Amino acid sequence: MSEWRYHNPVRLEATVLESLPKLMQTLDAATGKWLLVTSAGMTLRGVTERVKALTSTLDIDWLVHDTVTPNPELDDLDAVTARLLPDKIVGVVALGGGSVLDAAKVLAVTLPHGEVNSLKASLREGKGQQWQTKLPSIAVPTTSGTGAEVTPFATVWDQTEHKKYSVTGTLVLPDIALLDPTLTHSLPETETLNTGLDAISHACESLWNVNKTPVSEAYARQALILAKTALPKVLTTPSDIEARAAMQQASVLAGLAISQTRTAIAHAISYPLTSHFDVPHGLACSFTLPKIIDDFIFVCKEQALIDLMRSVQRMLEELSLYSRVHEYASEEKILQLAGEMFHPERAGNYLGKLSSDKVTGFVKL
Ligand SMILES: [Fe+2]
Repeated sequence: MSEWRYHNPVRLEATVLESLPKLMQTLDAATGKWLLVTSAGMTLRGVTERVKALTSTLDIDWLVHDTVTPNPELDDLDAVTARLLPDKIVGVVALGGGSVLDAAKVLAVTLPHGEVNSLKASLREGKGQQWQTKLPSIAVPTTSGTGAEVTPFATVWDQTEHKKYSVTGTLVLPDIALLDPTLTHSLPETETLNTGLDAISHACESLWNVNKTPVSEAYARQALILAKTALPKVLTTPSDIEARAAMQQASVLAGLAISQTRTAIAHAISYPLTSHFDVPHGLACSFTLPKIIDDFIFVCKEQALIDLMRSVQRMLEELSLYSRVHEYASEEKILQLAGEMFHPERAGNYLGKLSSDKVTGFVKL
């Protein structure tokens, strides 16, 4: 019998945004200055003002950081920390997609640490993670895919050195994930697709993972069952509330699954594509899935799982993922990065046997 454990302390609250003030009051930071981390688009659409109005009866002040860009950047996060340190922030609300949530998860540990340039020292200069404590935080996802609201890691990109780092550990977990599917309704088609693909990739990567447990496997299977039907629906009918809710659930379940297992080869392949060619994360980590499914099926002994994977594969093959990737870079250019894709830490999580030739085969049309 193999040993395994499961632990994820994030409180899930499937509710409406109007519950935010009540949830904030349950945390150990009821009064003082709160930081709202979001995107310029959310502010433009009035969501920042909506949050302020909803919480107007609380004894708090809001500071707003709404210039988070896709792929949060190391120097930028250090600069934001330095700027906000004098404000003595007591709590963080993140409202947005994966990049916003990741940025907020990082700020929730760098702000109470109290030193400038802690990301530079910890990550770029390799001194290791120094953070000891975190601010109370609530994550409110407005996309369905990254699972960042429940994962104990946050991605930080170093664009000057084309490197990707992770801030990891239970400290970066939000205290609460507020899940309101109506916040995903206005998501444009391309982002709906790319983030939904990320959720599917997380579920697959968790299932073909050497670290899988009975719990991660149950979550990942349910995520695929939900997403294989709901993703095509939200692409054709963006206002389908039940399909949007199903994608949000799939994203959370897949996020809980990779919280235990971490990702694997499809994500290892994706990172250089995002770093060098700006291929959106969800697309970069999913265009190889149909071929990896073919490979995994050789080592998968369970017919029900094979059938589930095949049905996901058929759905993915309808989405022209290779040609979408090639809008960012030609196959020739992508193959030049093959050496960076065989990342031993991630590739080593894959249950099947891998070689650099096999990885190249996954990437080729
Ligand atoms: Fe991902």
